Amino acid sequence: MEEIGLIQVGAGVWGTSWASKIASTPGVRLEAVVDVQEDAARSVASASALGADRAYTSLGAALEGTDATAVVIISPPRTHTPLALEAIRGGKHVLIEKPLAESVDDARAVVAAAEAAGITAMVSQNYRFKRGPRTVLRLIRAGVIGPVEQVTIAYRKNPPFFGFRAEMDEPLLVDMSIHHLDALRGIVGVEPATVRARSWNPSWSIFTSNSAALVEIVGTRGEQVLYTGSWSSHGPPTTWDGAWQIEGERGGIAWDQNRVTVHFPSAFDTVFMPGALERDGVMEVDLDVVEHEERAGTLREFRRAILESTPPETSVGDNLASISLVLAAVESAKQGGATLTLQNTNKGK
Ligand SMILES: NC(=O)c1ccc[n+]([C@@H]2O[C@H](COP(=O)([O-])OP(=O)(O)OC[C@H]3O[C@@H](n4cnc5c(N)ncnc54)[C@H](O)[C@@H]3O)[C@@H](O)[C@H]2O)c1
Repeated sequence: MEEIGLIQVGAGVWGTSWASKIASTPGVRLEAVVDVQEDAARSVASASALGADRAYTSLGAALEGTDATAVVIISPPRTHTPLALEAIRGGKHVLIEKPLAESVDDARAVVAAAEAAGITAMVSQNYRFKRGPRTVLRLIRAGVIGPVEQVTIAYRKNPPFFGFRAEMDEPLLVDMSIHHLDALRGIVGVEPATVRARSWNPSWSIFTSNSAALVEIVGTRGEQVLYTGSWSSHGPPTTWDGAWQIEGERGGIAWDQNRVTVHFPSAFDTVFMPGALERDGVMEVDLDVVEHEERAGTLREFRRAILESTPPETSVGDNLASISLVLAAVESAKQGGATLTLQNTNKGK
């Protein structure tokens, strides 16, 4: 199997876990680890059985010192754009942790640079690559509930974060809701036309900036979407994916606590549905088997896209529409809930 050499940038909490994902994924090989904190780079490099000479404190030095094919960026959000542009300038394919960028101009710059250089550039939207969302995607594509008309999403957690999230602007919307609003597009198929949002910070929040938000989205086909999210929730926690209600003319899909159920308006529709069992008046759907979930999925998709020279599912071009939606929600919240129109940012795959 053809192996792809990777330079990993960022050896913090998530980067440490990434290194073991890379080690357990066939067809990729860690070549070097970069972190501005030398100890962190060395520690992840040695845990990955790389010599100390493969630990670097800058991407530039790692690009000079190794002959990798691609760069994986797992550093804080504010560093994503400059590092991605540096990797692309160095002729490397690039896999970037979410969020792609902190401004739409920055996101566009990465998309344009990758296109001009013929580089595979992908955002690791790992939440799309799990069995719950894949099951929902299949049901929606099969037309089980008909065209989607309304969606409500609720997300509640109270994670004890420290570090960049505690200090950054709008941590919930920018660092977390990107997963949910990307799934709204990539799993449910709603492309946003307008957005308005409010965000706030509960008195007990550990975050400097707003950690709770309410976002209303109207889709390009008139879909009505209501999203509420909190990283300072004292309510019952949802999963990281959130709790989803997706409704169409023929019925509704509920995706909550890793259970996917289909609700039909007529009792006769619950007599039989392949791959589902009737329980409490709803059809409980068997979750799809996903062989390579989460980052095992994004990493394989990245490698496939490089080798086949075809765009990955969560290319930076596709992600431009997701990050633009998030940043428009932030902007709306700053403007006190103004309704903002999104440009047609979806550049497809
Ligand atoms: N997709 C997911 O489910 C998921 C989960 C957790 C984190 N993340 C993302 O991963 C990224 C990192 O998160 P984390 O929790 O590991 O943060 P962290 O603060 O624990 O680690 C970040 C590391 O990057 C290093 N760093 C900072 N600037 C750098 C630069 N210019 N070059 C090289 N290294 C640099 C820091 O020294 C630190 O070691 C963030 O973008 C975050 O949103 C994604």
